[in-house]
Amino acid sequence: FAFTPENLAWAEAQITKYPEGRQASAIIPLLWRAQEQEGWLTRPAIEGIAQMLGMEYIRALEVATFYFMFQLQPVGSVAHFQICGTLSCMIMGAEDLVAIAKEKIAPNPHQLSDDGKFSWEEVECLGSCSNAPMAQVGKDYYEDLTTESFGDLIDRLGKGEVPVPGPQNGRYAAEPE
Ligand code: FES
Repeated sequence: FAFTPENLAWAEAQITKYPEGRQASAIIPLLWRAQEQEGWLTRPAIEGIAQMLGMEYIRALEVATFYFMFQLQPVGSVAHFQICGTLSCMIMGAEDLVAIAKEKIAPNPHQLSDDGKFSWEEVECLGSCSNAPMAQVGKDYYEDLTTESFGDLIDRLGKGEVPVPGPQNGRYAAEPE
């Protein structure tokens, strides 16, 4: 694993923000940048970052495995859906969204779709409970989903469109002209 020159410069700048002996504090932004670069966190990436920060590999792995924002296996090239399955979303239909994901993407969480474009998993509360049920794709939240709007979201992403994130029931979001 190697950061691109641009990402390496960025990573080194992050590390200098922390006092001497506290470089390990930069672990989360560096892991995140590596994931953005590679699509997911490979073992060599975690090892390389641990080395940059003077940490044991196991300590870096502990951080990478604690947060579900980090992916430790390949994800869909277009979108990895993190479907919230906690209480509010469960009551409002998360299980129906999971059924759509199983049907349209792959039967199992973290399994790539046949074309490699999509993957999905169920996660714990993403803090958007008032707009349940919802799913996260990258940095975007798609909220107030129904089976129809979730299926439509998968189809549109697959066609290369970028649907407007936020509530999908028209509550405030508007499609750009
Ligand atoms: Fe789903 Fe909180 S329960 S976002």
